[in-house]
Order: sequence, then structure tokens, then C-alpha cells
Amino acid sequence: MQPMTLFALCGSLRQTSINKATLHALQTLAPASVRIVLDEDIGLLPLFNPDIEHLSHPAVERIKRQLAEASGLIIASPEYAHGITGVLKNALDWLVSGPEFVDKPIMLINTSARAYHAQQALREVVTTMSGKLIDDACVTVPLLSKTPTADDIVQMPDVATALTSGLATFCEAIHSLR
Ligand SMILES: Cc1cc2nc3c(=O)[nH]c(=O)nc-3n(C[C@H](O)[C@H](O)[C@H](O)COP(=O)(O)O)c2cc1C
Repeated sequence: MQPMTLFALCGSLRQTSINKATLHALQTLAPASVRIVLDEDIGLLPLFNPDIEHLSHPAVERIKRQLAEASGLIIASPEYAHGITGVLKNALDWLVSGPEFVDKPIMLINTSARAYHAQQALREVVTTMSGKLIDDACVTVPLLSKTPTADDIVQMPDVATALTSGLATFCEAIHSLR
């Protein structure tokens, strides 16, 4: 059977980003039947401008293709000043008008319980874009006060269990939507 491919976006460009480490940990924790493709170049996207939307740009083409080829989208992002980070919102703005986002199952990972403003905003944005938010698959894990690597996260039993079970719920929801 073909593995299920999921596309992941991280809303932080930091090299030692907790959100990026969490997505890398999820790649390790995922079963062999699930492949998670993490976009590492979200920062290469030009600033969104409707005037240049019709022009071809490699980073834009790539993100659209990766999303189109995936069965679902996973987003892990920090909150900046109670809002969605600029880099993530910019990426989402590039995806507003295309067909790739419509009905795409979405799982949100929040690495800090206190960062609820951005999560609320993100929920509003992705549902407005006609994504299919899978509520039961969305996970909040308490990682903020730590600076964990992906390997550290894999070794944290409670966090690893929460991520694995969120991913399993997400994959089940995708199967049942087919
Ligand atoms: C510019 C900036 C603004 C931030 N604003 C908030 C905020 O409003 N709420 C919050 O909980 N954390 C806030 N933080 C803390 C980040 O959530 C925290 O540093 C997080 O680890 C960043 O995610 P990352 O490790 O994936 O880069 C802010 C951090 C930065 C750099």
C-alpha cells in the first residue's frame, strides 16, 4: 500500500525552533505508512502581493505542489504578539486563491498552552480558506519553557504519546473522509 503523505508547515524560521523540532519528532514517531514532508524553505516565499500572484515563482510553485500532493496539512507555529507569525500568514496568503487548500484535512500542533490567541486566529484563517480542520487531531503540548531537540521530544513519553495519538486520529479522519 502507498504510504500516506502529509505536508507540514512550521511558522518559525528559527534554527532551534521548538515547533520545527516538534515536526521533526513527529516524522520520527510516524508509522511507516505515513510520510511527513516538512517544508524547510517557507522563508524563501516572496511577500504575498496579488499583483505578482500570476507570475511563476519556484518557492510558491513548490509549496502549492507539495500541498496538492499531500492527503493532509499539519501546521505547528508559535504565537507572535498574540497573532499568527508573519512567515506563516504569508505562506497561507499564497494559498488562498488556489484549489490546493480546499477541503484539505488540517491538524494544528500548539507547543505552548498560553499561545491560544494565535491558535484561535489560525483556526479562523484555515477554515475561512475552506480547509477541513480536524478538531480531535489538534494537539497542545507543553514545550515552551524547554529548548528540546527532536530527539528530546521523541524521548518525552507524554508529549510523544500526545503527538502520536493526534497523528493517528488525523490519519483515521483522512481515511474516513475519502
Ligand atoms: C517576536 C516574538 C513575539 C512573541 N509573542 C508571543 C506571544 O504573544 N505569546 C506567547 O505565548 N509567546 C510569544 N513569544 C514566544 C514564542 O512563542 C516562543 O519564543 C516560541 O518558542 C517560539 O517558537 P519557536 O521555538 O518554534 O521559534 C514571542 C516570541 C517572539 C520572538
